[in-house]
Amino acid sequence: MKKAIILLLFLSGTFTSKSQENILVNTNSTQIILKVDADKNLTFEYYGKKLNRIDDLFNTNTNTGADAYPAFGIRPDKTIAIRAKHANLDLTLVLKYQSHEVYDMDTNVDLTTIHLKDEIYPFYVDIKYKTFKAEDVIEMWTEISHTEKNSVTLFNYASAYLAFKEPTTYISHFHGNWGTEFTMEEFQLKRGKFSIESKEGIRSSTKDNASFFLGLGSALSENKGDVIAGALAWTGNFDISFAHDEFSTINITAGINNYASEYTLDKGKKFITPALILTYSNEGKGQASRNLHRYARKYKMVGGGEERKILLNSWEGVYFDFNEDKIIDLIDDTASIGGELFVLDDGWFGNKYSRDKADQGLGDWQVSKKKLPNGIEKLIDESENRGIKFGIWVEPEMANTSSELYENHPDWVLQNAGRELVKGRGKTQVVLDLSNPKVQDFVFNTVNDLLNKNPHIDYIKWDANAAISNYGSTYLSKEKQSHLYIDYHSGLQSVLKRLREKHPNIIMQACASGGGRTNYGFLQYFSEFWPSDNTDALQRIYIQWGMSHVFPAITMASHVSASPNHQTKREIPIKFRFDVAMTGRLGLELQPKNMTDEEKAFSKAAISVYKDIRPIIQFGDLYRIVSPYQNKRLASLIYVDEQKKNAVFFAYYLEKQVKETLPYFKFQGLDPTTNYTINEINKYAERKVFGADDKTFSGSFLMNTGVKLNLSNEYDSVILHLTAK
Ligand code: GLA
Repeated sequence: MKKAIILLLFLSGTFTSKSQENILVNTNSTQIILKVDADKNLTFEYYGKKLNRIDDLFNTNTNTGADAYPAFGIRPDKTIAIRAKHANLDLTLVLKYQSHEVYDMDTNVDLTTIHLKDEIYPFYVDIKYKTFKAEDVIEMWTEISHTEKNSVTLFNYASAYLAFKEPTTYISHFHGNWGTEFTMEEFQLKRGKFSIESKEGIRSSTKDNASFFLGLGSALSENKGDVIAGALAWTGNFDISFAHDEFSTINITAGINNYASEYTLDKGKKFITPALILTYSNEGKGQASRNLHRYARKYKMVGGGEERKILLNSWEGVYFDFNEDKIIDLIDDTASIGGELFVLDDGWFGNKYSRDKADQGLGDWQVSKKKLPNGIEKLIDESENRGIKFGIWVEPEMANTSSELYENHPDWVLQNAGRELVKGRGKTQVVLDLSNPKVQDFVFNTVNDLLNKNPHIDYIKWDANAAISNYGSTYLSKEKQSHLYIDYHSGLQSVLKRLREKHPNIIMQACASGGGRTNYGFLQYFSEFWPSDNTDALQRIYIQWGMSHVFPAITMASHVSASPNHQTKREIPIKFRFDVAMTGRLGLELQPKNMTDEEKAFSKAAISVYKDIRPIIQFGDLYRIVSPYQNKRLASLIYVDEQKKNAVFFAYYLEKQVKETLPYFKFQGLDPTTNYTINEINKYAERKVFGADDKTFSGSFLMNTGVKLNLSNEYDSVILHLTAK
C-alpha cells in the first residue's frame, strides 16, 4: 500500500512556462531520465547505468530527445504509443506534461506517476514507473482516461515506449512452437521493424515469448556489455516491436496487441495497460536474468520464498487410461521413491460424457464415478496415509461440445451467430466466453468448489489447450465485439484474483499445451509454469536455457520422463534425465511400474540428493556457464546461494565427438577469496566424472582456471556440490 508522498512536483498551477526539468526514475544502480521542456513536452532521454552527473548526458548529446509516450496526430510519421479517436471524431492527440509525484511504497519500492493531458481535450494519460531498487527492476505502464462527452476509441495503447540511439543493437528473443518453446535466437537489429507478438488469444507464449534481451553496442554475452531485458506482464495477445529508424534510433513499443482490438473507452473509465518489466545490466545477460529472478521470487509470484515439493504427475505415466487402483499404485510409488506430492492430470471427470479421451467432458467437473468410484477424497486419503500431498489438473476455461455444460449453456462459448463453430482439440474443444460475468462465476466456482470440498488439495495444474477461434461473444454488445481479446483476459484475471483472495497459498501451475502461458502476467497468480510438453531431457536443456533468461528456476517445472521419450523416442540414461530436471523444480512424469529396479533405486537416491540442494536451486542465483546454443555439444550452469557459501554446478555432454578434448569448466558467481570443498553428487553406480572429489579449491582458482571433467560419453553429466570451508 502507498505509504507517503515524498515528492509532489510541478502541479500545473505552479509550473512556470519557460522552465525545464528532469524527472529521474532511479533504482540502486540504474536510471530512467525524462525531461519536461519549456513547452511542457515530456521526453524520454535515457535508460541505463545511474549517471553521476545528469548534465553529461545533455552536454554530449547522447540523450534521445524522443517523446516519452508518442501520440498519433500532429507528427504522425514515427513510432507511436497511442492513437485514439475523440468523442467528436478528431483523430489527433498532443499530450502535454501536467505534474508528477513519487510515492514511497516501502524502503525498496517507489511509484512515480507522470500526468499528461491532451492540450485541448479532457483526455489523460498517466505514465507509471514502479521501481524495485535493490533488484534494479522497473515496471512501466500507462493509465488512459478521459471525460469527453461520449466514448473515445483507442486504436494503439502501448504500455511503454523506449528509445535508444545505439545503431549497433542486438536482440535475443525466444520463439518456438508446441514442443520447442523458448528457442533462443539472437541477431543484430537492422533498419526496419522487428516484432514479437501473439495473436492466439489464450496461449500467448507458445510461438513468441513476451520478453527480450537487447545488447546495446555489442553482441549479447553472459557477463559483459550493456543489456536491457524486458518482459511484458500480460496474459493475452501482445506486441513488442523494435523499429530501427532513419536516425538509427531503436524505438521500442510494448503492450497489448492491438490486433482486432479497437477499444471503446467510456467516459470516466480507465484503461490500464499491463506492465512492461525492465531491467538493465552493464554486466551482460547473466546479471539481467538474476535481477528478474530475484524480483520474480520476491515481488511477483505466489510463494516465491517457499520450497517446492517434488511431485509425480500422472500424465505421461497413464494418460487417460486409469482407474482408482492404478492411481493408488501411482501414489504408492510416488511416496516410496521419496516424492512429496502426487498430481492427478487430465481424465478424472465427466459422467454423462466420461473424459476417456480429449474429445469430451471438458466443463463437466464432476468426478468420474466409473474411474474413481470413491471420489478424489479417497485419493487424498491414500496420499495422506503415505505422507504425501495431492494435486489435480483442471482446464476450467474450456468446454467440449460433447459435454453437459455445452448442452446447458451453448451461449457461454465463443461463437459467431450463424456460423458453424470451429473446434479445437479432439475436434470438439471450444473456449468459454470469459468476458461474460456469468462464465467468470462458473470458472471461479469450478475451482473454488473443488478446493472448498477438498481442502487438502495442495496443488492445481491449470491448463488451457486452445486458441481463440470463433471470434465473437454473445455477451458483448455489437459495438464492443472488438473488446473480446482484451475482455477475455480482464475476465480471466478477475477470476484468478478472486481465487487468490480465497486461496492465497495454493500452489498453481500455469500450463497451456506446454509452455503457452509462460508470462509474468500469469506469474502474479501462479507459482510455476509447465515449460513444454516436450520432456526429452536433451531438448529440455535448450528450452530451459531459454526460459532461465526470464524466469527463475523455482518457476520451471522440470520432470523426469520415460526412456524412450514419448515425444522424440530418444533414449537417454536416467542420470542425465535427473541431472537436467534437477536444475528446475524437480518432478517425475512416468509410470514407475515400467522402471527397472536399478532405475527406481537411482530415482530414490536422486530425489534425496535434490532435497539437500533444493534451496540453492530454488532460491539461488543462476550463472549460465557454457551455452548449448553456442557450444552445441556442451552445456553448463551453476546456482550459488546469496551468501556465496553453497553452490551446485551442472555440466552435460550433449553430443560426443571422437578424440575431443573438452575445455576446462570455469565456475562463476563464487567468492574468489573463499575456499570451497567440492563433492560430486548424484553419481550413477559410483562412476566419477570429477576426479578430485572432496578436495578444496579457492573460488578464484575455480573461476579463473577451472576444472577438468571426465565427460566421456554422449549424455554423460555431472553435478558438483560446493560448500565453503
Ligand atoms: C496438455 C498439457 C499436458 C497434459 C494434457 C492433458 O497437453 O500440456 O501436460 O496436462 O494437456 O490433456
